[in-house]
Amino acid sequence: MKKFLFLASAWAVWSVASLAWSFEPLPDAPPVPADNPMSAAKVALGQQLYFDKRLSVDGTVSCNSCHSVMGSGTDN
Ligand code: HEC
Repeated sequence: MKKFLFLASAWAVWSVASLAWSFEPLPDAPPVPADNPMSAAKVALGQQLYFDKRLSVDGTVSCNSCHSVMGSGTDN
């Protein structure tokens, strides 16, 4: 039993340590490719497309329907 508890503890410590090592904080700004500079017009187009329900087959669903920006864009 003691051996099991030791192994389980060692595994837990290793798991947390490797998770902390593999995650990084989100960048302050999105990456912008050198050959595709950002512009206000592109940002506006992206926002329009993201909320546009006409992109769905029956015109009722946008990206925001599933990836609500109020939920940080996650897909639930
Ligand atoms: C009907 C619901 C739904 C709609 C509409 C939808 N998505 Fe998704 N999206 C999901 C789900 C669910 C996943 C996760 C799929 C998986 O993990 O297998 C996902 C995954 C993603 C991912 C990958 C995220 C990752 O972790 O790699 C991106 C990017 C994305 N969606 C963008 C979009 C964009 C852009 C639109 C609009 C053009 C959109 N989605 C519309 C449900 C939706």
